[in-house]
Parts: sequence; C-alpha cells; structure tokens
Amino acid sequence: MSDDAVTARYSALHRLDSPANRLIRDTIWGRENDVGQQSFVTPRYLDELAGRIGLGADDHLLDVGSGTGGPAVHIARRTGCRVTGIDVNAVGVDAGTALAENAGLAARVDFHRGDAAEMPFADASLDAALSMNVLNVFPDKRRVLAGLHRVLRPGGTLAFLSGTFGPMDDATRTAMARGGRVPQHYDSLDGYRRMLGETGFVIEEITEYVADFRVQMTRWHDAYLAHRAAVAAEEGDQQADDHIAYFAAYLRLIDGGIAANHLFISTRSG
Ligand SMILES: C[S@@+](CC[C@H](N)C(=O)[O-])C[C@H]1O[C@@H](n2cnc3c(N)ncnc32)[C@H](O)[C@@H]1O
Repeated sequence: MSDDAVTARYSALHRLDSPANRLIRDTIWGRENDVGQQSFVTPRYLDELAGRIGLGADDHLLDVGSGTGGPAVHIARRTGCRVTGIDVNAVGVDAGTALAENAGLAARVDFHRGDAAEMPFADASLDAALSMNVLNVFPDKRRVLAGLHRVLRPGGTLAFLSGTFGPMDDATRTAMARGGRVPQHYDSLDGYRRMLGETGFVIEEITEYVADFRVQMTRWHDAYLAHRAAVAAEEGDQQADDHIAYFAAYLRLIDGGIAANHLFISTRSG
C-alpha cells in the first residue's frame, strides 16, 4: 500500500480534535485518560509498561506506528527517556510534533514520517522499541521484526501489543478491515512466537491483555454507535457504519475465543 493510501485511511482517525472524534474520545476516555492515544491503552497501562521495560532518562525508545504521538509524549514525560516515533501518516506525525512542543518536550521527543518496514534508523542505535496495536498492518512482519533487531542494541528490549487471531470467515475479515479500507494481516499467538525466535529475539514474557481490552473495545463500539451521525457528517455514512461493524466483529471474535490481544516482551540477542 502506498504512503498516500495509508495516510488517507488513517487521517480521519488521526484528526483528534475534529468534532466527531472529540465526542468519541470524550465518551471513551474522558479528559483525564485521553493522552492522545489511537489504540486501546490507558495512561495507567503505559506507566506499567514503561516500568516493566525499565525505561529511564538514559534510554532512547522507538515507538513503531506512533499514531498521533500521545503515548510517546506520555512515556517521555513520565520516565524522562528520549522517544522517537515513526509513522507513515503525516497527519499523525504533525499531531505528535505539536503535542511534544506543547508539552515542552520537543528536545526529547521527535516523530519521523516513514514506513516502519524500511526501519530508517542506524544499526544498534536504540535501547528499546515499543509498538501498540500496529503490527497487523504489515503483510511481512518478519521484515519489521528483523529491522527492529538491527536498530536495537544487543540486549535491547522490544515490547509490542498486538491482536492475535485464529481463522475467520471472509465477511468477518472484511468487517475487520473497516470495509476493506484498512487491510489487516493477522497472525496467531504461535505465529508471533515463531517469528520472534526466527528474527533473533529471546521472549521474556507474553501476557494476554484481553479482559481490559474487551472493556475498551466495547467503549469504542458504543461510542461510535452513540455518535454515528457526527461521524457520518465527517466521514460519510459508509465509513461510519464500517467503524461500528469493525468493533462489533472484533467483540464477536473475542467472545468466540478467536481474537485476543497479547503483550510480547523480548530482548535482542547477539
Ligand atoms: C491503531 S494506530 C496505533 C497508534 C499508536 N501506536 C497508539 O497507540 O496510539 C496504528 C498506526 O499504525 C500506523 N501505520 C500504518 N502503517 C504503517 C507503516 N507501514 N509504518 C509505520 N506506521 C504505520 C498508522 O498510521 C497508525 O498511526
């Protein structure tokens, strides 16, 4: 998929202060839990994760698929570490850059527009990498993981949160790709385990993050339903319905034991 196509698909979601997104975000997060995340993570979860990785002021963290930059800015503020975000979407990169400037963190947080499959950073230049609900966009995850292995220093930590999936039918697959507009490339828990090993990572921990995830997912579903008219006014009827169908399909998969969300923490060997 070209950068432009991805940008077009994500841009509507990344305009956090559009009237429809404001309504949805206030419904889901309230002001106190809204750190500008475009995923299912709460600020508390981010704090726990940063603690688990052991991030401190001397570390340089990469956030892969940094979205609108909220998690990167939040982690830099709480841990003192330096963060570089990479995202293919210019709207997200601009939003993240503005967020870092407004937080007085521009010296420690920067955002790079680019494709994480190309991993445009120097060898062994980063202490840790994080990615939250992004890996499903990549058709070739081994390539992304191999790139991460190259840019992390030996012993550096890779932590990512990703949906893990079993088989699904075509109608569900289309709903999960928001009507086909955001293609997804799913993998199973075992698939991720295998790919991490094959790309030179040693797995430290795999944690299922499904109970909270279901709560978050339900909130997103209900918010899109409650604010459907506002979303349709910005994105059109079809997209408004596709968002609702996506969350409804995801919830059915969770309840059917076909979808989960896992946190994988591993270290770069060698
Ligand atoms: C669900 S959002 C998650 C954003 C962020 N991690 C967060 O937690 O708020 C997925 C992100 O992946 C980005 N993305 C999609 N394809 C990408 C690629 N090839 N390289 C880098 N980022 C990509 C999208 O633009 C989007 O910002």
